[in-house]
Amino acid sequence: MSDYTPTPEDRFSFGIWTVGWQGVDVFGPGTRPPMPADRAVRKLAEIGAYGVNFHDNDVFDFDAAPAERQGAVDAFRKALDETGLVVTTATTNLFGHPVFKDGAFTANDRDVRRFALRKVMDNLDLAAELGAKTYVCWGGREGAESGAAKDVRTALDRYKEAFDVLGAYVADQGYDLRFAIEPKPNEPRGDILLPTVGHALAFIETLERSEIVGLNPEVGHEEMAGLNYAHGLAQALWQGKLFHIDLNGQHGPRYDQDLRFGAGNTRGAFWVVDLIDQSDYDGPVHFDFKPPRTEDDQGVWDSAAACMRNWLILREKVRAFRADPDVQAALREAKVAELARPTLADGEDWRSVRDATVDAEALGGRRTAFEHLDQLALEHLYGVRA
Ligand code: GCO
Ligand code: MN
Ligand code: MN
Repeated sequence: MSDYTPTPEDRFSFGIWTVGWQGVDVFGPGTRPPMPADRAVRKLAEIGAYGVNFHDNDVFDFDAAPAERQGAVDAFRKALDETGLVVTTATTNLFGHPVFKDGAFTANDRDVRRFALRKVMDNLDLAAELGAKTYVCWGGREGAESGAAKDVRTALDRYKEAFDVLGAYVADQGYDLRFAIEPKPNEPRGDILLPTVGHALAFIETLERSEIVGLNPEVGHEEMAGLNYAHGLAQALWQGKLFHIDLNGQHGPRYDQDLRFGAGNTRGAFWVVDLIDQSDYDGPVHFDFKPPRTEDDQGVWDSAAACMRNWLILREKVRAFRADPDVQAALREAKVAELARPTLADGEDWRSVRDATVDAEALGGRRTAFEHLDQLALEHLYGVRA
């Protein structure tokens, strides 16, 4: 058993806004003082993180004057240099200020859309300067609460236009940056555009530079829609579109809980770690959670450290599961590997199966042994098989 100490090879990263969340919710103000970005960087380095993601306005205020902005960026950069923390990812706050109350790229008001593009381009410059390779786009306020107020097909035209313009900007500036769209079904808008991994994958195919646009799926967001997050990740991987992941915890379809990773749907988390551990995903293992409003400063760092610890605990468990000879036998009995064999052999075509017959009665009664296999997984998760 390891001591679950994070290492740089684990590539753990956090949003500056996660540990910096003051606990403001719709029923009350914050319970914790503001946290400057440079303090978040230093404390994250102390607990073993490798990298960070930031919104422009995690570092400087929306209305910061140029000198104030520069001072905040300098303090952020100094903390990065002193700790060795890497900026893996950056993103734009297109949801906090009232100007974005009807969205940014898809606001009905054209001036808002033009300003939103400018705000993203400003932060793309900073992202490139700080070495980020991924630029997350969460369309938190791209959506509606009512029917007639938003023409969804036209909004998607404008959404596509925004990615085409930003893709051209990145190409023209020669930035080594890719965009990662983060789907979410609702909250803060009643309904958000590109609500799930599937919607976003289909949208990306329409873009002029679709090769530099992929996904940043978040655990809680898919589970809010009642979907299987690991399946969403698997399809994104299959389509070469898993550019980033936002890990956290969620208890089923309700408000966006942003619990620490491993809390909430633990069984789902087991399969997420199993999938990523076996895949060629090499982006950051990124946590986008919110330390509950009940917590003081110590509680913030306890919950952040627990995200990484839970990943490492689950990684140990999924590896033990895969290495278990009983599991290997159960996988064989369940014919999991047979699915990799194409349905038609080389040289065959539809004619070869046009008249295929089977003993349907016998096949209908065959043993799949899926329950046995799943119970072995649960027993690894429950800690009764080492
Ligand atoms: C949420 C979202 C946000 C975004 C982040 C990046 O909890 O609804 O995950 O946290 O990831 O703001 O823009
Ligand atoms: Mn969330
Ligand atoms: Mn997120």
